[in-house]
Amino acid sequence: MLVLTEAQPGDAARIADFHMAAFGSNQLLLAQFPTPAVREGLRTSLVEKVQAELYARSPVGYPRNLSFIATDPAYGRCGAGSLLMNWALKRAEKETVPVALESTMDAVPFYERLGFRTEAQISMSLGGPGEEFMPYEERFLVFRPNSFPI
Ligand SMILES: CC(C)(COP(=O)(O)OP(=O)(O)OC[C@H]1O[C@@H](n2cnc3c(N)ncnc32)[C@H](O)[C@@H]1OP(=O)(O)O)[C@@H](O)C(=O)NCCC(=O)NCCS
Repeated sequence: MLVLTEAQPGDAARIADFHMAAFGSNQLLLAQFPTPAVREGLRTSLVEKVQAELYARSPVGYPRNLSFIATDPAYGRCGAGSLLMNWALKRAEKETVPVALESTMDAVPFYERLGFRTEAQISMSLGGPGEEFMPYEERFLVFRPNSFPI
């Protein structure tokens, strides 16, 4: 059975590891952090960022930022991502707050199943000096609570 619990500052390293495992093959991440050394730097900065956010968290724990949702790939398609998102979306419904995020193409069906709708396409070309440019796409998705006026 899956149980949702609040992360603690001591969980920061594991959260950074999940992020790197889940997004490690993402073309945008690889373009921004092209070598193992800079990716290790990213991991270190993620640990610090997560620790800072967890120490600064308000007791209410309201989800202000729903970017970079990730499940440990070893436990994908077991319902963990939906459990976390439904927790956040229930609060969005209660507070009548829409939720917007950028999604990788792979995750679009996951968000659509939760009630998000695609509102814009994000297209760019990735590549460094002397490299062939490669198209990259994401989607801008919005969840509007039933009680939201528009
Ligand atoms: C997207 C992600 C968070 C989903 O987490 P998860 O814990 O596997 O999700 P769930 O088990 O709750 O999936 C619920 C449903 O969403 C859909 N879904 C989830 N991942 C999917 C995928 N890769 N492709 C198609 N549908 C998917 C399915 O309908 C799934 O139900 P099913 O398994 O019964 O078919 C996870 O795949 C992930 O970490 N991906 C890499 C990082 C990423 O791209 N994050 C989102 C971008 S911001």
